[in-house]
Amino acid sequence: MSSPSSFFLTLEGIDGAGKSSHLDAVEAFFTRLGRRVTRTREPGGTPLAETLRELILSRPMDALTESLLVFAARRDHIERVISPALARGDVVLCDRFTDATFAYQGAGHGFDPEVLLTLERWVQGLAKAEDETAAGPGAAKLLQPDLTLWFDLAPEAAAERLIGARLPDRFESQPVAFFRRVAAGYAARAAVAGERFVRIDAALPRERVWERVEAVLAHRLAST
Ligand code: TYD
Repeated sequence: MSSPSSFFLTLEGIDGAGKSSHLDAVEAFFTRLGRRVTRTREPGGTPLAETLRELILSRPMDALTESLLVFAARRDHIERVISPALARGDVVLCDRFTDATFAYQGAGHGFDPEVLLTLERWVQGLAKAEDETAAGPGAAKLLQPDLTLWFDLAPEAAAERLIGARLPDRFESQPVAFFRRVAAGYAARAAVAGERFVRIDAALPRERVWERVEAVLAHRLAST
């Protein structure tokens, strides 16, 4: 059960879009307001999920195995970190969440989105009591972010930013065509969940991107 003051914020975007470089500033934004922030990431966020992350990012595997491991990590992360933090009324600041699975495993690797929707229902389904209060009997209520900042950048530009950055992991070393599909996957998710998605034009200079992020956060908090 989440507290009314809790806020679940996720950052998304293709590799090289620059989302991670704004995490410190986002955390500081909430801390300045006196909010307690639980900062975390996916895959990862718990000892078990971080172990799964190492496997996912380094070992070759088929798309079903990859999806099962990503959702297994997510399950542990929700149970041990995200749900308790939301119940305390924290701001949960998460670097990637399920939208990344639809974008990378679904659109990027062409894995069946119906299976991903099923796994999402299994892993993010809320307890029945909360489900019925929130959405009426029988309605499936899922744990979803309150706000998703989607850092959108052309895959060609993102690839240039990644050159020489560090040793690429299994996803970062994919060709530009893969990231075109991933970017289209994010756009498709944004189209069906428009109320929580805000697109950030990540092609702008870094300071301008931050100004936009800050404005979106201030506006969202003012209206809740
Ligand atoms: P990333 O946020 O890029 O971490 P870092 O900045 O440390 O490289 O996440 C790691 C990779 O995991 C990224 O390439 C996207 C991939 N990923 C998936 O394929 N599916 C998922 O569900 C998630 C959460 C991430």
